[in-house]
Amino acid sequence: MSTPAGAKAIRCAGLIKIYKIEDIEVVALQGLDLQVERGELMGIIGPSGSGKTTLMSVLGGLDTPSAGRAWVSGIDLVALNDRQRLRYRRRDVGFVWQNTARNLIPYLTAVENVELAMMVAGRFDRPRAQELLRLVGLGHRTQHRPQAMSTGEQQRVAVAIALANAPQVLLADEPTGSLDDQNAARLLALFDTVRREIGVTVVIVTHDTNVAGSLDRYVAIRDGKTATEAVRLSEPREAGREQAGAEQGAAAPADAPSHDHFVLLDSAGRMQVPEQLRDRYGIGGRVRLVEEDGRLVIEPPGEGDAAR
Ligand SMILES: Nc1ncnc2c1ncn2[C@@H]1O[C@H](COP(=O)(O)OP(=O)(O)OP(=O)(O)O)[C@@H](O)[C@H]1O
Ligand SMILES: [Mg+2]
Repeated sequence: MSTPAGAKAIRCAGLIKIYKIEDIEVVALQGLDLQVERGELMGIIGPSGSGKTTLMSVLGGLDTPSAGRAWVSGIDLVALNDRQRLRYRRRDVGFVWQNTARNLIPYLTAVENVELAMMVAGRFDRPRAQELLRLVGLGHRTQHRPQAMSTGEQQRVAVAIALANAPQVLLADEPTGSLDDQNAARLLALFDTVRREIGVTVVIVTHDTNVAGSLDRYVAIRDGKTATEAVRLSEPREAGREQAGAEQGAAAPADAPSHDHFVLLDSAGRMQVPEQLRDRYGIGGRVRLVEEDGRLVIEPPGEGDAAR
């Protein structure tokens, strides 16, 4: 499973995931497109049920997509058989979950937790386990068991565990979910440190618009599809034109002038018009796309238009 030079860290194209319980189908991912550069620290935000965890499960090899393609570090996830997928999970990706109990084994010390993860990946290396704990700022806590550590410390151990198999990609699903603001900020700073020092690509799922707003780039998922993207500006922009992507209610911080906001078009050219804008301009069903002074304008149908 080698990595082709220059490959994106993550690429998803038209990813679809349908869960079926008895006769009911839930379409959790509806043709999701995503690209993540190598060494990037990027965020995924979106309302509850939008498909964030489903995406993480697919990228982490815990689940298979129903259709579409996904590559991580050049590995084609759809092409993996069960044995290869298990190996991929153990060797190529790292996870940090919201729930600290899911990240750590309670009766093992911090360093034993990291060593166990190394053993599972076939990469046991005691000095490196110590080194990873130092990297996450817990060089003085290596012999502590989880219950003797704060939640913030436990999540930092979780980062060391997630790095134990020397993954190319680190996936974190709501890692700051059980932390207060101060510890959340420290954990984010830690993700940035490991990205810089180890060169690992980090993807963080969050509900928290403060967390997202502190990242250089984040993508908002709505209804199983990437809807908007925010990219940090090199210099904060002066107040001016409103950007639609910044208005997606819970899916994006309302006051993030530090970021440029884009609405994403999928490979077929489709885009989502945020609900607030549909309401404000009274559009729905059909609109007119008009070229005007070198701009592309979306207009509601006028009064003189032919009735439906
Ligand atoms: N194992 C499953 N079986 C059936 N349906 C599922 C399963 N996992 C998720 N779903 C459904 O898929 C959709 C997306 O769920 P997902 O957990 O990915 O959302 P999420 O964005 O992570 O939400 P949250 O912010 O609440 O964690 C939801 O409608 C959910 O009910
Ligand atoms: Mg989730």
